[in-house]
Amino acid sequence: MIVLGLETSCDETAAALVADDKRVLAEALLSQQAEHRPFGGIVPEIAARSHLDHLDGLIRRAMAEAGVGFGDLAGVAATGGPGLIGGVMVGVMTAKAISAVAGLPFLAVNHLEGHALSVRLIEEVAFPYLLLLVSGGHCQLLLVHDVGRYRRLGTTIDDAAGEAFDKAAKLLGLGYPGGPAIERAAQAGDPKRIPLPRPMLGRPGADFSFSGLKTALRHRVAEARPEATADLAASFQAAVIDCLADRTANAIVMAREDAAPTALVVAGGVAANGALRRRLEDVAAVGGLRLVAPPLKLCTDNAAMIAWAGIERLRLGLTDGLDFAPRPRWPLDPSARPGAKA
Ligand code: KG4
Ligand code: ZN
Repeated sequence: MIVLGLETSCDETAAALVADDKRVLAEALLSQQAEHRPFGGIVPEIAARSHLDHLDGLIRRAMAEAGVGFGDLAGVAATGGPGLIGGVMVGVMTAKAISAVAGLPFLAVNHLEGHALSVRLIEEVAFPYLLLLVSGGHCQLLLVHDVGRYRRLGTTIDDAAGEAFDKAAKLLGLGYPGGPAIERAAQAGDPKRIPLPRPMLGRPGADFSFSGLKTALRHRVAEARPEATADLAASFQAAVIDCLADRTANAIVMAREDAAPTALVVAGGVAANGALRRRLEDVAAVGGLRLVAPPLKLCTDNAAMIAWAGIERLRLGLTDGLDFAPRPRWPLDPSARPGAKA
């Protein structure tokens, strides 16, 4: 069983073909980073136009690389939300057109479910497990009970962790995307040199907040000498990691009240951060869980995770009608109160 997956919800245009025996037959991905870099962040209109320009070609390339035609597919999956709506519409309309023409099931995949299930494409991680999803758009702790069944234990009340890295890098003049730039600069700095707050630390629950940290950093940058950049980057990174670790430790306790999690999984672009991964190893060990960090290619936005979530849904008969409407917001846990980031 082979499924075509499409991802267009943010600044990556991607198509992938995945088989139900966990083989990724082909992947074609185009990052729009260079197009958005002059603006220091993602411009939705530019993103939507770029998806429209490139998606068809990427699908063609992936199909040719895998040596399959539409007749070989069992279904077509596209990110149906949450995300920048112009981009989501491009992916959904394209998947619907292929599905209508080739007579294939259409699967509207929640982008967060794509991230949540991606680990199962590389490893047998049994349900339930705890997921820390940290990217430019999302910052959540989710208890993954089953396909389609999630409990959100925590979310950010303002910025996502990756967004905080990006804004901090901008303040420090380190460019975009900020996470890798901060991590690089931090290597030469002292993480204890600049005092910065740790919002929410020690509080009950598993919610995050990063805007106060960003404001504090702005004040420290204004006072600091130019040569302090490495110390500022190291101190900022340490503060973010302290917050993520504290909230994750709480979430492990909360998850255990309700289920017996088999692992702590980390996903999203911020999972690329080496210092964060090392810290999460400790948090998982203290909580009696193993840490599973999928390869980076699968952590950042990609279409293989959308195809894989499509396969998991298709196996359960969870297909969608062609009347599916793209969703800018689409919480995985409908009972959770709305957060700053869906
Ligand atoms: O998952 P992703 O590629 O895209 C979405 O946001 O959905 O994540 C990108 C985010 C950016 O905010 C970027 O600054 C952050 O991940 N990031 C990092 C690192 N590499 C990427 N943050 C901290 N340390 C890194 N090494
Ligand atoms: Zn994502």
